[in-house]
Amino acid sequence: MTDTARSSATLTTIAPALRAAFERLDYTADGLLRMLGADAHAALGRGEPVAVRRACTGELGTLVRLLLVGDVIAHQEAAAVLAPLELDAALAAGLLEATADGVRSAIDVRPFDIGSGSRWVFADLDESMRIVGTRPDHVLGVGEASLSLLRATPRDPVADAIDIGTGCGVQTVAALDHADRVIATDITPRCLDFTRASLALNGINPARVQIRQGSWYEPVADEQTDLLMANPPFVVGSGTIEHSYRDSGLDLDGASELMIRGAADRLAPGGTAAMLASWIVTEADWRSRLASWLPDHGVDAWIVQRDIADPALYVGTWMRDGGLDPRDVEAQQVGARWLDRFADAGVEGVGFGFVFLRRTDEPSDILAEDLRHSFDDPLGDEATAYFDRVAWLRENDVRDARLQLTDGAALERVATIDPDTGWVDVVRRLHRADGPRWVHEVDDSAAALVAGLRHEGLPAADVAELLAVATGVEGFDDQALDELLTGLVRHGVLRPDNTR
Ligand SMILES: C[S@@+](CC[C@H](N)C(=O)[O-])C[C@H]1O[C@@H](n2cnc3c(N)ncnc32)[C@H](O)[C@@H]1O
Repeated sequence: MTDTARSSATLTTIAPALRAAFERLDYTADGLLRMLGADAHAALGRGEPVAVRRACTGELGTLVRLLLVGDVIAHQEAAAVLAPLELDAALAAGLLEATADGVRSAIDVRPFDIGSGSRWVFADLDESMRIVGTRPDHVLGVGEASLSLLRATPRDPVADAIDIGTGCGVQTVAALDHADRVIATDITPRCLDFTRASLALNGINPARVQIRQGSWYEPVADEQTDLLMANPPFVVGSGTIEHSYRDSGLDLDGASELMIRGAADRLAPGGTAAMLASWIVTEADWRSRLASWLPDHGVDAWIVQRDIADPALYVGTWMRDGGLDPRDVEAQQVGARWLDRFADAGVEGVGFGFVFLRRTDEPSDILAEDLRHSFDDPLGDEATAYFDRVAWLRENDVRDARLQLTDGAALERVATIDPDTGWVDVVRRLHRADGPRWVHEVDDSAAALVAGLRHEGLPAADVAELLAVATGVEGFDDQALDELLTGLVRHGVLRPDNTR
């Protein structure tokens, strides 16, 4: 490498050689898990360098200690594991920094895999392995929130996608597996530089990605897309900005409101949005608050509340995230102002979750629901299936349909003892075994009805009528039957034969 090439080295220019080193040593999501084993891999996720270091072996181990643990590695050893990337170029590009005894990482670069092989992204170092300080325009790495949006994004093939607040480019890189083109936006030039470098690291043709700087929807004001993705800076606070990756500058849940209000207009007909959001929970129903941000016509919405934090827990968590020590007197003033703002606004909790939207040409159908229990299946495919079921319900009379319980559905019975008659069922719950594992409480009649439904059998209303005659128990009125079946179809517990 010439002196000129070395001095103009950037993360983007060194990306191809770095990727070659990664492939040579199997610095991939699977490769790391194989070398570290499950326990040390979990320790890596928790930011515990000691356990990770002990599991590092061979050249891959040296590379992991250099790039992920934050160890100082001697020049010769570092040069060997980075080849064909030259050590001088890695230093010149800012990937590494020199110390008295060798080199160490100055940028985070790590693999992630959402099921289609390893991809890599550059980001700023976080504080998990080494105390480094966090700059105001810190480029966030692949954290829990990024991964949760990756898993919640529908992966159906699309022509166009938009990624608002792209950061290190993680959502964009993943979307290019199933989208022909992506527009990636961010407010900070540093994030956009890192996104360019992440694209180069994955060998992605830059012509497939437009990188645009600007705030919120401003850079895509004239666009309509098939897929809108956003993991915005949604921290609910008092409107100050300390770190652009988390603070929006808008009061309380203003960032989520702005993103949700503006999303439908950015979607092409049939287009889908998958976003993370956060909202205040007050005495009023949080569902109505979120629904009020959506239009009455033209958008189906599925809003999933995954968690609620009480104000003290919320403020404490985000203060620690921002490097504030709750024991520090100045930090305590920040916390006090934050909690005062929450008290003024009557905030009893802060909800967090996913907002899925689909653009339609129909009156809006909005469901906001609490799904705070644990489940493992990703929500991306479920969101597509959910909107397909909503469309089916719009076009069909559910009582006339031939329905059937989805595979794996189970009935749970809870009984208490009656001294005269023995066990008496007090609750019956119908469970879906996959997806978000929805649970519906049902009575005896509903349990018997769903057991009798078959795709090749009679329409649901006829089965209900026959059941009433056979058991002598009064059947369902039209509205009750409609509500029961609609709820179960909406959640995929009952399926018409032509839906997912
Ligand atoms: C939570 S990070 C998400 C990064 C990445 N998309 C991910 O999923 O990990 C939020 C990103 O939004 C960017 N951002 C902050 N304010 C913004 C604004 N007003 N408009 C657009 N992007 C903004 C930040 O720079 C940051 O990259």
